[in-house]
Amino acid sequence: MRNFNAILVTGGAGFIGSHVVRKLLSNRPKTKVVNLDALTYAGNLENLRDVESNPRYTFVKGDIQDAALIERLFVEYTFDAVVHLAAESHVDRSIENPMAFLETNILGTATLLNAARSAWANSTGDRCFYHISTDEVYGSLGAKGLFTEETPYDPRSPYSSSKASSDHLVRAWHHTYGLPVVISNCSNNYGAYQFPEKLIPLMIRNIRDERPLPIYGDGINVRDWLWVEDHASAIDVILHEGAEGRTYNIGGLNEWKNIDLVHELIRLVDMALKRTEGSSRKLITFVKDRAGHDFRYAIDASRIESELGWKPSITFEQGLAATVEWYLNNGEWLDSVTSGTYQQYYDTMYGNRG
Ligand code: NAD
Ligand code: TYD
Repeated sequence: MRNFNAILVTGGAGFIGSHVVRKLLSNRPKTKVVNLDALTYAGNLENLRDVESNPRYTFVKGDIQDAALIERLFVEYTFDAVVHLAAESHVDRSIENPMAFLETNILGTATLLNAARSAWANSTGDRCFYHISTDEVYGSLGAKGLFTEETPYDPRSPYSSSKASSDHLVRAWHHTYGLPVVISNCSNNYGAYQFPEKLIPLMIRNIRDERPLPIYGDGINVRDWLWVEDHASAIDVILHEGAEGRTYNIGGLNEWKNIDLVHELIRLVDMALKRTEGSSRKLITFVKDRAGHDFRYAIDASRIESELGWKPSITFEQGLAATVEWYLNNGEWLDSVTSGTYQQYYDTMYGNRG
């Protein structure tokens, strides 16, 4: 078991990062957490309102590509761990503008690796550079099979190829320079504070507002959904107990076709809003498919379960019901993050897909 005094979390104002910051502060009562986030459209300090006055928490606004800033932060806070989540994360945006993904996901990761390497040269004690990655690096599955940690990389979108590149860099810094690293590759997350460009919050919002529900292609693509708080718990366990240099796949053993999931969301939202059951089905609209749309993702999470004892803590039924309730009760959050530039994004992306 490793122990850390000060952890640099990158991307802590985003969806998963905000849950990770909260988890580390509550599970590790002696650890300081510094959250470095550029506050792009996906980063929102509202996501961390409940911890902002915690004396062990500090927020720094900045870009992971800013080497001088990161070097200064390492000197000021003497980090003994980095939990690296900052990334451009949305596949559709990567198709529109790949360069931003290469810059943040590849060059940003290299900048952090260099900073950790020089700060930790000749140091003693526990150190860990933890890189958070995605199952999308493994490519697209057919109807059968699961991604294991040994599945060859086969990324197919600008997003997944930029994440795959960053995974390779992390392993290269480990093998070449001896940097103590761990990597995890997780399936699709869902839960509170997810930016509503992703499937589940987008659909909840549109069902609530009685707007069209855009299903790409024929809706039979499959994703393996994991509750974000279970991902945050897995990250906490891997950071403290994962073997150095090792990779862990994290997933929910919970595969859904997109169309089935949208039907389930319709059922839950209609019920919560006391509408006639299924009345929002009429909003379903099949739109032009995503370019290069990966057919299926599904994770074999047996390594993390057998080696570290982690498994999901709740069922999808419980998690999805809690998630729908959270978005409906936090309409202000949903409305504030979707005002302004998001509306332009939505009109551009979905205006194109008719
Ligand atoms: P997100 O888009 O919600 O959050 C990303 C955060 O990174 C935002 O707060 C943003 O402001 C920040 N950021 C972006 N560029 C930055 C830069 N150059 N410098 C500093 N901060 C920057 O993403 P998420 O869904 O929370 O994903 C977090 C990580 O987990 C990513 O690395 C992603 O690849 C990975 N991941 C996500 C999922 C998922 O289902 N969401 C699944 C597996 C892995
Ligand atoms: P998304 O949430 O973007 O995650 P990812 O592409 O990283 O898996 O999309 C999940 C699935 O839902 C994916 O198969 C694409 C599909 N999808 C739609 O059908 N309509 C939408 O409006 C969105 C955002 C996604």
